[in-house]
Amino acid sequence: MFANLTSQIYRQAVKAKVFKKSSRLMMSETNNLPKVLVTRPDVASIGIELLKKEFDVTTWSLPSPMPREEFLKSVVGKNGIFCTLTDKIDAELLDMAGPELKVVATISVGYDHIDISECKKRNIRIGYTPDVLTDATAELTMALLLATNRRLFEANKEVFNGGWSSWSPSWMCGPGLKGSVIGIFGYGRIGQEVAKRCVPFKPKKIVYFNRSEKPKEASEVGASFVNFNDLLKTSDVIIVCCALTPETKEIFNYEAFQRMKPNCIFINTSRGGLVDQKSLYQALKEKRIWGAGLDVTTPEPLPLDDPLLTLKNCLILPHIGSADINTRIEMSKITATNIIKALKNQEMISEIK
Ligand code: DGY
Repeated sequence: MFANLTSQIYRQAVKAKVFKKSSRLMMSETNNLPKVLVTRPDVASIGIELLKKEFDVTTWSLPSPMPREEFLKSVVGKNGIFCTLTDKIDAELLDMAGPELKVVATISVGYDHIDISECKKRNIRIGYTPDVLTDATAELTMALLLATNRRLFEANKEVFNGGWSSWSPSWMCGPGLKGSVIGIFGYGRIGQEVAKRCVPFKPKKIVYFNRSEKPKEASEVGASFVNFNDLLKTSDVIIVCCALTPETKEIFNYEAFQRMKPNCIFINTSRGGLVDQKSLYQALKEKRIWGAGLDVTTPEPLPLDDPLLTLKNCLILPHIGSADINTRIEMSKITATNIIKALKNQEMISEIK
């Protein structure tokens, strides 16, 4: 009640221009067109161009996340928000936006940064970008897996630091994929594409764990469904391809790492929140598992003094799963189109129902 009142007063103040407009916002001419906020200027320009043809578009001008205060001020009276996974869309922000807000479209497949039930309460439609980034993410997952099991980054460093003295029969060896059991946690679009890409590496078996069995999709690659415990106990490689939800939050905890094989390679390209990072650190440090490749962490960016960065058997990338040029162009186009369609009361390309 109090929070609501505060945001009402704040909204009025913003509307009455009591707060100075930030010089960091790029605004189009004020007019009667619907108003859309784009939280990043560095999304592929096609998306912003499409929006500008139809709406009054305000864009944050820096290629870094909008500070929260700025975001709260800027959403007041907007009809649509084009956001990224670094923008938290919660009740406070939706209250600030007010009843004019009709659509939030995120340029991501993951939507754990959006409070879906708060949006639904306010009849705000939500757009996202599944499918289009599946191949790019599956490709990066394979790159990360191969870089981790064959120690590419560690080996590359040795070329520069003088550690490469001669060819050595025992140096920089890692477990290959041939004959291994590859376990996939989450057998949705990305998990299935990862499984297909694993086949040419001749694993002994591909197993998967998912909320429900996917016999038809699994039969394409001969993958078999196992329970979570068996996935942990039998896999030589565990690849996490699952959305972050209250059920999957920190599901890879101390217990889970204890159950993995000592030669296990753990790969995560979904969300850092699925992993209890302290336990992962411990498992890697104590060589309970062989190594990890992470494209996602908590928080992002990972602070430079994070203990994970001290480990040779942990390869970390800065969340680049979908960072393929054409994929990002398509993601921008779809996000803009989702907003356009929603504001015209039409069917969106991809909507979270
Ligand atoms: C997503 O879309 O959720 C990825 O994490 C970034 O593209």
